[in-house]
Amino acid sequence: MDKLQITGGRPLEGEVRISGAKNATLPILAATLLADGPVTISNVPHLQDVTTMIELLGRMGVTVTIDEKLRIEVDPTTIREQFAPYELVKKMRASILVLGPLLARYGEADVSLPGGCAIGARPVNIHVAGLQAMGADIHIENGYIKARTGKARAGRLKGARLVLETVTVTGTENLMMAAVLADGETVLENAAREPEVVDLANFLIAMGAKIRGAGTDRIVIEGVERLHGCSYEVMPDRIETGTFLVAAAITGGHVRTKNTCPAYLDAVLLKLQEAGAKLAQGDNWIELDMRGRRPKAIDVRTAPYPAFPTDMQAQFAALDAVADGVGTIIETVFENRFMHMLEMRRMGAEIRLEGNTAIIKGVPKLMAAPVMATDLRASASLVLAALVAEGQTVIERIYHIDRGYESIEEKLSGLGAQIRRVPGR
Ligand code: EPZ
Repeated sequence: MDKLQITGGRPLEGEVRISGAKNATLPILAATLLADGPVTISNVPHLQDVTTMIELLGRMGVTVTIDEKLRIEVDPTTIREQFAPYELVKKMRASILVLGPLLARYGEADVSLPGGCAIGARPVNIHVAGLQAMGADIHIENGYIKARTGKARAGRLKGARLVLETVTVTGTENLMMAAVLADGETVLENAAREPEVVDLANFLIAMGAKIRGAGTDRIVIEGVERLHGCSYEVMPDRIETGTFLVAAAITGGHVRTKNTCPAYLDAVLLKLQEAGAKLAQGDNWIELDMRGRRPKAIDVRTAPYPAFPTDMQAQFAALDAVADGVGTIIETVFENRFMHMLEMRRMGAEIRLEGNTAIIKGVPKLMAAPVMATDLRASASLVLAALVAEGQTVIERIYHIDRGYESIEEKLSGLGAQIRRVPGR
């Protein structure tokens, strides 16, 4: 397995282009199953998770090609089976996103239950309950979700009013995709408001869906007979943006992130300012200047959008680890998303864990150490810690990083970091 070798101590300087959003690309690729014609998607990030989703579509017989401009062309009409095997779903739990579209368009789906995950149990009960409320017959057999729309309603789901018991991003997305071809109106109450949900809604509308209220906690979908193909550009990745801004802050550097959208990052930008960073922004760029200054410790509490995102929690833990003062981080979304704290302790971080709260006393300097990535955002926080640690840090199991960050070593090297990938045996 590949490793990353990083020698810390250099302030990052320069510009970095942000890639398309992983968590918008994955539901949009799944949604192509709903169309009855070809779809072209641009600004798709080159990530392991995207490759896995493309592999899953291909396994079902969907035709997926990449054109000379690296746009993804999907022709769902060649689909042969509505089956998502465990071997792919275990690699990427977002594979569950094909369940709603397959059921809505073909009336049947056999999708492996996603297994456990490093950051939490992450059940899909809300996905399943919502589809059942829309008339699907679903049972779990040998680790698979076997879903049928039943022949009673000519193979179509029926619109329903669904109150989601927990704010769930992919749950909202799966049910929205199921509803666009259902018979009648569906209302999703307590829906997730993430920008990636809005991007999926905009993609579905471009295919002819009738959706109102995406981005609010109440989404109304009027079912239509069919959806046509379209061309669509994926939104920029707000979490990649936030990660590079923290990289600039933690190293006392000066970085501009381009091809991004400041509007999606209010909660994160406020916290960076609180940490002492100077920020400037335009329509599609954000610049952070922390030259000559040590970050101030800040408190963070994660919650669904528009509050502070759980996917930025680990990155801010790295910032607090070298900040001036004591910061607290409260994780309210997932039950086990502090593994990075244990690895950072090995680099000299002073962190106390009390349930879902981490109390971090900033130290003047972290020390390089061999560390291991455990999940996507935890691995990003170890990269950030290594960028500021004294000496050379080696990060193992960086396949976690490759799932969510496109060309991370090239992008960081472009900003002056001393980083290289060491091919694993
Ligand atoms: C999405 O995961 C993202 N993944 C995650 O990003 C992100 O951390 C998460 O939303 C929260 O923002 C994608 O979009 C592909 P949830 P998702 O359903 O949808 C509970 C990354 O780093 N829940 O919003 O799986 C669940 O246990 C990844 O890119 C149920 O109880 O998260 C959790 O506590 C990591 N039952 C809470 O809801 C359900 O049926 C929020 O989870 C579904 C969820």
